[in-house]
Amino acid sequence: MDKLVIEGGTPLSGTIRIHGAKNAALPILAASLLAEEPVAIRNVPRLLDIEVMLDILRELGCKARYDNDNRSVAVDSTMAGSSHIPEFLMRQMRSSVFLTGPLLARFGEVQLYQPGGCAIGERKIDLHLRGLAALGADIQEKGSRIVCRAPELRGTEVILDFPSVGATENIMMAAVKAKGRTVIVGAAREPEIQDLQNFLNRMGARVRGAGTDTIQIDGVESLHGGEYEIIPDRIVTGTVMVAAAATRGEVSIEGTQPAHLTSLIHVLRRAGVQIEIGNDIMKVGAYARPKAVERVVTSPYPAFPTDLQAQLMVMLALSEGVSLIKETVFEGRFKHVDELCRMGADIRVDLNNAFIRGVPELYGTSVEATDLRAGAALVIAGLAAQGRTVVEQVHHIDRGYDRIEEMFARLGGQIIRETNEREIVHQAR
Ligand code: UD1
Repeated sequence: MDKLVIEGGTPLSGTIRIHGAKNAALPILAASLLAEEPVAIRNVPRLLDIEVMLDILRELGCKARYDNDNRSVAVDSTMAGSSHIPEFLMRQMRSSVFLTGPLLARFGEVQLYQPGGCAIGERKIDLHLRGLAALGADIQEKGSRIVCRAPELRGTEVILDFPSVGATENIMMAAVKAKGRTVIVGAAREPEIQDLQNFLNRMGARVRGAGTDTIQIDGVESLHGGEYEIIPDRIVTGTVMVAAAATRGEVSIEGTQPAHLTSLIHVLRRAGVQIEIGNDIMKVGAYARPKAVERVVTSPYPAFPTDLQAQLMVMLALSEGVSLIKETVFEGRFKHVDELCRMGADIRVDLNNAFIRGVPELYGTSVEATDLRAGAALVIAGLAAQGRTVVEQVHHIDRGYDRIEEMFARLGGQIIRETNEREIVHQAR
């Protein structure tokens, strides 16, 4: 198992370019099943979750090739022949549930398995299934196996009780070839949903409204091939911004879309962090100890993202004063707290509230990444802490960050990955 070894205490500095968004690339790769010609997708990050998605596409009969040199994926789904998502792949990656909508639209049938709970919460798929049922799918659940059948999908109004990102995307993809018009009311508004809309429309679909809470899809007969470029990853951008602030450094971030990070920018500015914003560039600098932020509440976009909650907590743990974070999206998302406390943080959790009393220093020790974003938070903590931090279970972090150690080493962070006793040293500067 890989581990990251970090010598903390160096303020991050320099310039970094952000890779493509995992959460946009995954549904877009799933949607490539809808196209009747090959598609080429650029700016696809090199991540474990992407590899699993490509494996599933191959398992379903598609040709899928990742080009390492220019971070692009070519998918040819013309020969796809299976509508059965294998259970072992479904268990490896929850996002395989995104294939339900495209497979149902393409084959009129899909067999999948309950993805089950995960480290951050229960993560049900009832809203996905209810949406597909509204479009005309017959859904049979036998234990963890789910079989959906719909010889014909028909456009209708689908009302989501909660703006689930995945359910919105699945319903959009299923509706693209349905008969007539589908309207999703109460849709999630995340930028990744707009990216999916733009991809589908590039292939000939007729979708509008993504980015608002009402999305309208007019069914078309078929989708053609083409090229598309994925948006930059706003969560990776946010992770770097928080790391710059927590280490009291100064970092320029290129190739980003600042408009996707409004809520984080607002919180960081309240903490006294300086942020300069350009078109696709941001400069983040913390020239003094950040101040506590009275209350941060995670909620669906455009509110503060749950995927940046753990990282922000590290900065608040080092701030002056007492902060409160309320997590409203996932019930089990404070697993990083115990690890941060072992590094000297003073954080108390009561249900979904974390009370954070800022301390002047964190101290390096051995910690364990329990999930993707908790792992990223521990890396930030290690970069900011005095002494050596060892982060175990790095595979969680590799699900969403393309070589996190290279990214931070480029900014002057003293961080290396140890792989099976063999050390790969990244001293980029
Ligand atoms: C996506 C993101 C994830 C992010 C999350 C919230 C991807 C690949 N993942 O996950 O990084 O943390 O959005 O911004 O895009 N829920 C139900 N029933 C459902 C669906 C969801 O009860 O059918 C609940 C979930 O348990 C959770 C909440 O709704 O409590 C949010 O889930 P959702 O927005 O669906 O997140 P994901 O699409 O799984």
